Amino acid sequence: MNLFPVYSLYPVEPVRGHGSYVYDAEGNEYLDLYGGHAVISIGHAHPHYVEAISQQVARLGFYSNSVQNSLQLRLASLLGQASGYDDYSLFLANSGAEANENAIKLASFHTRRNRVLAFHHAFHGRTSGAVQATDNADIQSPFNRTDRVTFVPLNDINAVERELATRQYCAVIIEGIQGVAGIHAPDDDFLCQLRALTQRAGVCLILDEVQSGYGRTGRFFAHQWTGIRPDLITTAKGMGNGFPIGGVLIAPHFKAAPGMLGTTFGGNHLACAAAIAVLEVIENENLVNNALQVGNLLQEQLRLADGIIDVRGRGLMIGADVTGDAPTLRRQLVLEQRVFTGGAGKKTVRLLPALSLQTAQAEDFINRFKLLIATQ
Ligand SMILES: Cc1ncc(COP(=O)(O)O)c(C=O)c1O
Repeated sequence: MNLFPVYSLYPVEPVRGHGSYVYDAEGNEYLDLYGGHAVISIGHAHPHYVEAISQQVARLGFYSNSVQNSLQLRLASLLGQASGYDDYSLFLANSGAEANENAIKLASFHTRRNRVLAFHHAFHGRTSGAVQATDNADIQSPFNRTDRVTFVPLNDINAVERELATRQYCAVIIEGIQGVAGIHAPDDDFLCQLRALTQRAGVCLILDEVQSGYGRTGRFFAHQWTGIRPDLITTAKGMGNGFPIGGVLIAPHFKAAPGMLGTTFGGNHLACAAAIAVLEVIENENLVNNALQVGNLLQEQLRLADGIIDVRGRGLMIGADVTGDAPTLRRQLVLEQRVFTGGAGKKTVRLLPALSLQTAQAEDFINRFKLLIATQ
């Protein structure tokens, strides 16, 4: 059987990782400024994480959501403390798309309405509801095309107000910082106005923090730079440091009913052990602060580098527009400089490294980047 070829692959196979490095079978070392798409939060093969998962799988890897699971309670408690959302409740899922799917469902159950407002260039995942709220017709099948989602420009509060006046919307969904679009943050003022407007209109505000959350921007969630409190917050990627897990943080005014949401794998023992270990490391190693400090330094140095025309982002969620063709440059970074980065379109290089990236590693990246630009 062949694999269904939907991915463009680099001719490199990492077989092992450590911190912000991965290694191929020949032992070549690659600096990882991509984190497998913002997933590696505490670094590859962190010893505490390895120990926690190993011990859990030897004890009990899985049982269903029909029995008590105190690991879920511990995860919810740690996540409440780390994020400042102690009074919210947690529904556990397996991925970012699934978290958004459940958040939209909750908003629709809660308001009994069925329209969603999303933003131009938004990405919320590839499952049915999430892809409907994703502004990319190329990844929507005819089955997914719907007139229940309207897209308006990011930061256009008047357009939001006009739409909400129709009183048909259950939710507005917005990324903490748009990631797939190339690192575009909503203005802080806009986010505050959006919160006030949705509250007045009785519409749920869903903050998709799947990519921008878990400490990446120097706050636990990116929207916390503004002080707003959304109705629903979705998370995934960095939550399990590679172990698949996602979640929805749900404000106290939502009422649960038995069977309203559910999943076979969500919140399983292994996933919880992984996610608990991640939060313990984030806390013990002060990684949210590290993301801010090292991210600021990286952004400053990128702004001074030749070949870069714009730098955006917060903390370690960085988009750099380059003068040349970004996909070509990223390929050269992998093959010639042994550095992994992310991309977005033809112009943007995305940096989404582990939150534990060290200053010397950030400087090493800048040097390798400069070397590459100098040889062009
Ligand atoms: C903001 C955002 N939401 C949702 C998703 C979907 O997450 P997953 O691929 O885990 O389904 C992504 C993935 O890139 C994302 O960046």
